[in-house]
Amino acid sequence: MSKPHIGIVVATTREGRFADKPAAWIRDIAAARGDMEVELLDLRDYPMPFFAEAASPAWAAPKDEVARRWGQKVAAMDGFIFVTGEYNHGVPAVLKNALDYAYREFNRKPAAYVGYGGVGAARSIEQLRLINIELQMAPTRSAVHIAGADFIGMFMHGKTFADMQHLEPAARSLLDDLLWWTRALKSARAEMPAPA
Ligand SMILES: Cc1cc2nc3c(=O)[nH]c(=O)nc-3n(C[C@H](O)[C@H](O)[C@H](O)COP(=O)(O)O)c2cc1C
Repeated sequence: MSKPHIGIVVATTREGRFADKPAAWIRDIAAARGDMEVELLDLRDYPMPFFAEAASPAWAAPKDEVARRWGQKVAAMDGFIFVTGEYNHGVPAVLKNALDYAYREFNRKPAAYVGYGGVGAARSIEQLRLINIELQMAPTRSAVHIAGADFIGMFMHGKTFADMQHLEPAARSLLDDLLWWTRALKSARAEMPAPA
């Protein structure tokens, strides 16, 4: 089997966002393994309007050109790592919007999570797992939660991921787990058509 393609979704877009740091961190750890192809999918590169299409993407391709490009990129991936913060205890709206713009492109693909914030975006990621289920994805148990003093240290006090080596075992577990599910589902998708 060829190396699976993993999309690392950078799920916030605001000026000065923290997201770039954890996204680059998990990308570098994943790329160093050599058993998966990884690509950053930065939502800044897909500036989609708030969803106002006539039909759900489950039934009809979006008319918005950027959304079509987003759907094509999602379709090319075998699995996903969502790198996300937590906005008012929920999923950042720009991420929810991007998820609403595709459907079949996400189906039967696994997702893992890297979260950051006061509680490592745990509340946001729990919501995200439910949204991923509705997209017929396979959310994994695996996540890295960058929380408390780790988050504040990097957010406000000049620490970097070089100071956070204790997070690396969780990153390795996440990638091991995601790789298993990605290979299993990629093979199943190739062998069996999904029910209509
Ligand atoms: C609109 C908004 C809501 C926020 N709500 C939460 C929250 O519910 N929980 C939390 O831990 N941090 C919250 N924060 C702080 C974020 O954890 C922090 O700003 C983080 O850097 C946001 O991710 P970003 O920099 O990638 O946008 C919030 C920040 C913003 C801008």
